[in-house]
Amino acid sequence: MARVNVFDTTLRDGEQSAGVNLNRLEKIEIAKQLERFGVDIMEAGFPASSQEDFDAVKEIADTVRNCSVTGLARSFKSDIDAAWDALKGGAQPRLHVFLATSPIHMTHKLKKTPEEVVDIAVESVAYAKEKGFPYVQWSAEDATRSDYDFLVHIIEKVIDAGADVINLPDTVGYTTPDEYAKLFKYVKEHVRNIEGVTLSAHCHDDLGMAVSNSLSAIEAGAGQIEGTINGIGERAGNAALEEVSVALEIRKDRYDFHTGLVLKEIKRTSDLVSKLTGMQVPGNKAVVGRNAFAHESGIHQDGVLKEATTYEIITPKMVGIDSNNLVLGKHSGRHAFKQKAESFGFELSESKLKEAFRAFKELTGKKKEVTDEDLFAILADKQTEN
Ligand code: KIV
Ligand code: ZN
Repeated sequence: MARVNVFDTTLRDGEQSAGVNLNRLEKIEIAKQLERFGVDIMEAGFPASSQEDFDAVKEIADTVRNCSVTGLARSFKSDIDAAWDALKGGAQPRLHVFLATSPIHMTHKLKKTPEEVVDIAVESVAYAKEKGFPYVQWSAEDATRSDYDFLVHIIEKVIDAGADVINLPDTVGYTTPDEYAKLFKYVKEHVRNIEGVTLSAHCHDDLGMAVSNSLSAIEAGAGQIEGTINGIGERAGNAALEEVSVALEIRKDRYDFHTGLVLKEIKRTSDLVSKLTGMQVPGNKAVVGRNAFAHESGIHQDGVLKEATTYEIITPKMVGIDSNNLVLGKHSGRHAFKQKAESFGFELSESKLKEAFRAFKELTGKKKEVTDEDLFAILADKQTEN
């Protein structure tokens, strides 16, 4: 089974989510948890963007020892200098330098010809290597809307200049799983000096395909996947790392790849990121949402009580959640109700239990959410009634 490296960008692309602003201490707290979670590389920020970001990246690089800390840089010497000053004390300093390669970006944003873009990219990578970075990742921003043969040409040049990792971002979340796989295969087959170089996938979720696209890239030869906790990030966000890693684990029959992530740290990491960024996790979010292990309908509750795998493909414990949750609502049945009463310590006769169940059903018609307190009150009433 092949190992895929995990590049976490919660503290950089994740922090680019609208409305998110982490201070230095919050970033350090998240970085320590990411280290416990077992990411291979963490992108701690964009050192040239502000003094605060520089300080946070530097402190994280100086503190974290079990993974490679990286920082983002545009293809400017001043950005690379700032990144080196922030990262040089790290265990495995790594630069992440990028330049756009799509016709749309080269024409309208960079206002450069393709050959000018090649020269700038080569210079930036060569400069980073001269500066002392042992690892340099080069990203072809908007790769999925770039010309394949231009990508092959520029990638060969930046590898000659010393790039160790080539990232092919789906910057605007435009690609589909089959197209993204085709791009990775094309680059692998056509770039003459690709041997020994890691290809990386970086997906955005504008069309809701970031996780599927990442899995597809892994199958097509990506040795590294990039993403964030809870899928936070620019616009609709990035690939959710907890989803990609759990998919690889649960579908081992399908994917012959694994990550070094400690899956039981998922819930804790998700909660911390949600708390410090203020980005709430939607209730129905895969793996970490409040309802990811909640069963409401009587048929499902009955199935799960008999054998959890009837309706649960992920064990809650695997991702650091104590147990599943049988939510009592209007679709719930007597079986789960009885189990709840027992869990509270009530031992009601069959007839009292029936009455309590009827009272509970009546309440579901009046209240959207029946809480444990409501249930307790109903059961206590029946117990004390003559
Ligand atoms: O989405 C993107 O293209 C990026 C780059 C900086 C790698 O985040
Ligand atoms: Zn991105």
